[in-house]
Amino acid sequence: MKRLIPTLFLIVASLCFMALATQAEDKPAGADLFKQKCSMCHGADGKGFAALKTPDFTDPKWQRSLKDKDIIETIKNGKKGTPMPPFADKLKEDEIQELVNYIRSLNSEKKK
Ligand code: HEC
Repeated sequence: MKRLIPTLFLIVASLCFMALATQAEDKPAGADLFKQKCSMCHGADGKGFAALKTPDFTDPKWQRSLKDKDIIETIKNGKKGTPMPPFADKLKEDEIQELVNYIRSLNSEKKK
């Protein structure tokens, strides 16, 4: 019985450590948001769909063509005359920023 308590303590401690470790190696926060709210039109990999005319977020040329401000603007207000919907009332300011960070991380130039 005397040995049981330290053993239990060790088990609990290592479980906590494992939980923390899996959190730390998590993808960027924007990745989950993107998967939930954007990937159906922009593709899980962000490369877009020709049929929907969604841009290829991994294309360095596309990345250079827009400033962060433009991307934020599009996410908030959508693009009139296209299926791109506005998200201003669905996402918080910091969630939009996380999405911008995530979209920037898709740039194929950065992966090299
Ligand atoms: C219903 C489909 C749909 C959904 C959902 C959607 N988009 Fe789009 N998005 C589009 C389309 C279509 C375009 C291309 C618009 C065009 O022709 O310029 C686009 C364009 C964009 C652009 C490029 C804007 C530009 O100025 O070139 C960004 C950035 C973008 N979407 C981000 C997002 C993000 C982030 C989400 C999720 C929060 C999202 N979209 C969800 C359809 C969608």
